[in-house]
Amino acid sequence: MRDAQPRTIYLKDYREPDYLIDRTQLRFELAEESTVVDSVLTLRRNPNAEPGPAELTLHGTELELLALEIDGQPVAQERRRISGETLHIEGVPDAFTLSCRTQIRPQENTSLEGLYKSSGMFCTQCEAEGFRKITYYLDRPDVMSEFEVEIVAERSRYPVLLSNGNLTVAEELEDGRHRTVWHDPFPKPAYLFALVAGDLSRVSDCFTTCSGREVDLHIYVEDKDLDKCDHAMTSLKNAMRWDEKVYGREYDLDIFNIVAVDDFNMGAMENKSLNIFNTSCVLAKPETTTDLGFQRVEGVVAHEYFHNWSGNRVTCRDWFQLSLKEGFTVFRDAQFSSDMGSATVKRVEDVSLLRTAQFAEDAGPMAHPIRPDSFIEISNFYTVTIYEKGAEVVRMLHTLLGPEDFRRGSDLYFERHDGQAVTCEDFVKAMEDASGRDLGQFRLWYSQAGTPRLKVAGYYDADSETYTLTVQQQCPPTPGQAEKAPMHIPLAVALLGEAGALRLELDGTPADPETSDNTQMVLDVTESEQRFVFNNIKEEPVPSLLRGFSAPVKLDYDYSRQQLLRLMRSDSDGFCRWDASQVLGVAEIRRAMTADADSYQVSEDLVDAFRALLSDDSLDKAMVALTLQLPSEAYLAEVIEPVDVHGIYRAREAVRYALAESLRDVLMACYRANTSDEVYRPEADQIAQRSLKNTALAYLMLCDDDECQGLAKAQFDSSQNMTDRLSALTALVHNLHPYHTEALWRFYQDWQHEPLVVNQWFQVQATNRQPGTLETVKELMAHPAFDIRNPNKVRALIGAFCAQNTVNFHQSDGAAYQFLADQVKQLDRSNPQIASRLLVPLTKWRKYLPGAQTLMKDALNSIMAVPELSSDVFEVVSKSLQ
Ligand code: ARG
Ligand code: ZN
Repeated sequence: MRDAQPRTIYLKDYREPDYLIDRTQLRFELAEESTVVDSVLTLRRNPNAEPGPAELTLHGTELELLALEIDGQPVAQERRRISGETLHIEGVPDAFTLSCRTQIRPQENTSLEGLYKSSGMFCTQCEAEGFRKITYYLDRPDVMSEFEVEIVAERSRYPVLLSNGNLTVAEELEDGRHRTVWHDPFPKPAYLFALVAGDLSRVSDCFTTCSGREVDLHIYVEDKDLDKCDHAMTSLKNAMRWDEKVYGREYDLDIFNIVAVDDFNMGAMENKSLNIFNTSCVLAKPETTTDLGFQRVEGVVAHEYFHNWSGNRVTCRDWFQLSLKEGFTVFRDAQFSSDMGSATVKRVEDVSLLRTAQFAEDAGPMAHPIRPDSFIEISNFYTVTIYEKGAEVVRMLHTLLGPEDFRRGSDLYFERHDGQAVTCEDFVKAMEDASGRDLGQFRLWYSQAGTPRLKVAGYYDADSETYTLTVQQQCPPTPGQAEKAPMHIPLAVALLGEAGALRLELDGTPADPETSDNTQMVLDVTESEQRFVFNNIKEEPVPSLLRGFSAPVKLDYDYSRQQLLRLMRSDSDGFCRWDASQVLGVAEIRRAMTADADSYQVSEDLVDAFRALLSDDSLDKAMVALTLQLPSEAYLAEVIEPVDVHGIYRAREAVRYALAESLRDVLMACYRANTSDEVYRPEADQIAQRSLKNTALAYLMLCDDDECQGLAKAQFDSSQNMTDRLSALTALVHNLHPYHTEALWRFYQDWQHEPLVVNQWFQVQATNRQPGTLETVKELMAHPAFDIRNPNKVRALIGAFCAQNTVNFHQSDGAAYQFLADQVKQLDRSNPQIASRLLVPLTKWRKYLPGAQTLMKDALNSIMAVPELSSDVFEVVSKSLQ
């Protein structure tokens, strides 16, 4: 809890640290009441620091200081001062050893940062500023130190004692205790420190690196979860091999550990050689985990592993540079996932997330550039902007430079900055130096917030055989940034003729000869208005724009229906094919919104297009499934303003019903054709098949004949894997099928001992669009399986209801807004990070109809009125009310 008005921290105030810590020795005495932490820090004055008094200021929160010595001499009371989150010591030498003993209470730590207990085990989460909850320290990423860690604990309760690096001592002590000592040879900032102590079992494997080093791989879990580690282990080995091949990055220690914990604020954490994971991002087996779950495990395991280079070997100078490691690492894991599965599907999923969550953030009160200028609480900046938009910015560099120069740039970056804490500027500079490209204007992507809008128009002149694209760019104001300069936007284009994409020649220059077919070009859009003239164009083409979603922008082009249908049918770019279907879907839903309920008739050409998709066996089934799903409510809320939540929902349902009715027979054929009794594999071909089958099922459940209505029950009763079982359960529950109550009951009976499956059970109920769901959610909060201290459960029930179930969250009396406000107030006392994240749906109040706005603001004001809000919640609520 804060003790004064939270302070804003500015990037422009960055200064180098006054002292450096060359060596950090820690000793943990873990016990049931409290833990004693002894630290011995080898400090010296930073030669680059600005001259100043011989004063040391360390960070520390909620610590009980038991002893403090400099070079073996106690530090007198009058030389030291503890205030707020710091410890000041006056009159320190230029080089000295500081010994400090603190006592902490991990058992009572419900914030899940620092050292805490989860299901009987001790574990840590130090990023961004959790280390200061363990001991007094220079808790900032530009202070890198060599760590030696001793852990002492009772052997029977905590047989496994882990920290970063190599194990150097393991021995028995008296009274049933034991100890281990770990040494990490790579200097690192405190946020990468980790400790684990518990009764854990492990699955082991090994990996031989490209230079022949043998690395022992271990995944530590509770004994009951030993059967759910194979997929994570395979993913880890694939990621290690991939990073050698694609980035030339080899692993650098002889051991790599992953530990799974139940209570975790985020997905996972890349602590050096001791990654700590939310169980939801590491455990997987077919009976308990959906295809999406398997893919998430693969992606997160790879993400954390890739951080060993992009984050650990080269780390961030300060937290304003967070996207340096997160944007780059998300880009790397996305490349990896597309290589492992279906590249187009991965791209469409990533773009969907960006265009809903990130575009909304960019248009809201918390909008910030990928390198923010200021923050109150850094935990609030682990955002879709820093992560996903950050990854898009790196992806644009990849597009502009091409794969070879991009690789040269990343090699130079790692070589130049190995062992350093650096900035986004250092990354761009390496890309610039390696490629010779001027990235001056491109740097605006790091400093400007907001989503640029591109208005594109095409003009064909048959006489001169030219086709001209006029491109205008404009970026709306965001908090603190009224004016925006034009950005450097890579716009990938092709021109489609009757017989396929045309050869491109721009102002006389042919398309990049390196692209195999000369039919795609990346246009450098750099001005507010620009014209691109293509020569030798013998027919009027349909432009295929922003191919592969080459930049995180909104695109307007006034396509005719015919052109959209043609793009959807025949564009060679998978993303553009899908995007054309989204534009058609949005138009259809808009039309259904304005038509009155009885007169709405679904467009025949859309039905025909969907029928063609369903009947064409040559298409990628996963893409067919994605295309058949209409634009999500979240996406519609981005493009239809002000957001009429209920109107959008009703119209979208009307279109879904109409499509289901018109396509019933082909959907049924598709369902049958894609039902298989093959043994489950979490691989692209099977995932695609299940995805198409379950998309068909969701439509067929809208038809009321017996054959359709029987499908979900039959699938629920017979399915052997969680993907099919959960799809069937969702279909039954969300359509109030007569069997749904029994199905819910049976599902719970079957899986009550698997917390991750119970979370899915909560989520299916929380996302039910039927009326009365708020009451169901409240009842479920009293269910024995619910636990407000566990973030996964909070996210599955409260989070899913508020963020995904828009019709119920926005019920007209505002009861759900008040419900969320109450939960936020309660959670803020135990876990501010989770509280602050949960409240995000309320911050979007400006987008909704006036009545909803008032009620949402009332709820925010009621939070604001609470004395002693955490800095996390304070920042989000106060900024959203400004
Ligand atoms: N670095 C971690 C990851 O992206 C996330 C840790 C976030 N922690 C936090 N307290 N916000 O892999
Ligand atoms: Zn990360």
